[in-house]
Amino acid sequence: MGAKVRYYCRVKALTIAVDGYASCGKSTLAKDLASALGYRYIDSGAMYRAVTWYLLEHRLAAEEGPSLQAALDKIVLDFVAKDGSTVLTLNGQEPGLALRSMEVNSMVSPVSALHSVRIAMVERQRAFSTRAGLTMDGRDIGTYVFPEAELKIFMQSRPEIRAARRLAELRKAGELQWTLDEVLTNLRERDTMDSNRDFAPLRRADDAVDLDNSDMNQEEQLAWALDLALARGAVRP
Ligand code: DC
Repeated sequence: MGAKVRYYCRVKALTIAVDGYASCGKSTLAKDLASALGYRYIDSGAMYRAVTWYLLEHRLAAEEGPSLQAALDKIVLDFVAKDGSTVLTLNGQEPGLALRSMEVNSMVSPVSALHSVRIAMVERQRAFSTRAGLTMDGRDIGTYVFPEAELKIFMQSRPEIRAARRLAELRKAGELQWTLDEVLTNLRERDTMDSNRDFAPLRRADDAVDLDNSDMNQEEQLAWALDLALARGAVRP
């Protein structure tokens, strides 16, 4: 009788969850990882921003009720390839930098705390899951959306650094009137609201790996995360 042969299956494509506080560079890391590994990248925050933008555009109240449900039923979100990157589309249109305005920044936490909004977005986020590998960044990806993700990264960085990043983003969107202090206040308020909502709050998953990127550049954080992904068996699909 020959010896029993054991076959090991090498994980080829991972689901990678990148969670953390506002403006830590989660999207940059998740996007860089996806392009290094040939995975799909989904920005879950952009989805909550898109719903917020839609409600503002249609002057709908950020509260539970039939008009919110009707709006959620009408909203079709997708991510499409454009100029080597992926952009969100809402009912076929590209809201673009409007999603990054201070008006959206100020409303997005209350909107994303609404139960029906979360249910609708989580369902769509899970539908993006693919055997070909996925990186998704957000607040509850490792704890609620994909609790079985093979790699979970929990990010933070110093508040002044985060505020400077968000200020630069606002300037790019043409909003020149905000000060660093105002942006910092908005970030703190969002972190507090996102961490204290009832349903799927911002929380570090028990099995997440911590990353404080305050003193790292983009290449360094990517190299650090790629090492982790490769150690977990990631290979190009
Ligand atoms: O990542 P971001 O700053 O673009 O996210 C905007 C807001 O969306 C954030 O303040 C809270 C909400 N959000 C959420 O509740 N859950 C997610 N998975 C992602 C974002």
